[in-house]
Amino acid sequence: MIQDEFVFASHFEGEYETQWQAPSNIALVKYWGKHGEQLPRNPSLSFTLTKCVTTTSVNFSPKQGREMNFDFLFDKIKQPYFRPKIEQFLDRITPYFPVLAEHHLSISSHNSFPHSSGIASSASAMAALALCIVDFEKQHHPNWSEEALLQKSSFLARLGSGSAARSIAGPMMVWGESTAFLGSSDLYAIVPENEWHPIFQNFQDTVLIVDKGQKKVSSTLGHGIMNGHPFAAQRFEQANRNIAALKNALNTGDLDQFIDITEGEAMSLHALMMTSQPRFMLMQPQTVAIIQKIWDFRAESQLPLCFTLDAGANVHLLYPKQDCISVMDFIKNELCSFCQNGEYIEDQVGNGPQKM
Ligand code: DP6
Repeated sequence: MIQDEFVFASHFEGEYETQWQAPSNIALVKYWGKHGEQLPRNPSLSFTLTKCVTTTSVNFSPKQGREMNFDFLFDKIKQPYFRPKIEQFLDRITPYFPVLAEHHLSISSHNSFPHSSGIASSASAMAALALCIVDFEKQHHPNWSEEALLQKSSFLARLGSGSAARSIAGPMMVWGESTAFLGSSDLYAIVPENEWHPIFQNFQDTVLIVDKGQKKVSSTLGHGIMNGHPFAAQRFEQANRNIAALKNALNTGDLDQFIDITEGEAMSLHALMMTSQPRFMLMQPQTVAIIQKIWDFRAESQLPLCFTLDAGANVHLLYPKQDCISVMDFIKNELCSFCQNGEYIEDQVGNGPQKM
């Protein structure tokens, strides 16, 4: 079904070139399970990151005859591996911006983090591409408000990858209808209007690289396992409860509550994978060892360090900026040895994409 309010048709000819940088994001309440055309089964909330970014430039030129729709360079090299995902994305979004069908897109992308770091790049990549396309669309639509731009960018990004809907602004975004967040929608992510406690400003996310390899479960398969999952109904209820409680923690600065929800969400995500048909075990022995170490460190130091996980073995360490020195010592002395080649990436909550 086409969402009419997002269709923008006009006749436009000429060339346009733009470049955007979009960050990755880390979900605290997880999106796991989808239906229809990229619609979430439950609301999710994420911190927008700063350093893990994709930079994408697009040159739009009028299509000549039977020319292909697009060409794609990753790190200046043709990468056939990414083509199907981009093709699917362009097919999905063209009804919302039919002018695209008359243009050839020369797309060139670069990630600030290595492709083989085990860090999912689909959120930042699809967000950067969506922003380039909406920037082009804006040239035909000069009176667009900031809010309309944000909505359309998130709406398009969602059609590329669900989590990309949440990489359109900072410092945090909510995607999926939730009674706790006014204006929230399944169609696009919003920046919640609430006041956030200053402790979350520049909140740190240090990503411990446990496994640089490719994900062992594709996101399509991963979300698919929620159809008919024995715990699906309870899980969607849990996410709704957690996002409301997390709003309170973010508002009041209650770090005990923040930790409880964030770690609980990571564990639920992995528990869902372990109890689905087929079953997946994406944690590795190092992941479990790191989690134990974090719990011991927290008990001893009383510092509010916690973790979250994506659909993979890497561990995201979350903590306030003011605890940087103690946590970095802990990482270097006790956690680094569990990382592949001792690698980790230091990132933090940020303000969202930038036009270059
Ligand atoms: C575990 O956004 O990668 O990271 O919509 O199929 O592209 P698609 O899925 P994707 O799923 C992300 C799942 C997650 C949790 C999250 O980011 O909320």
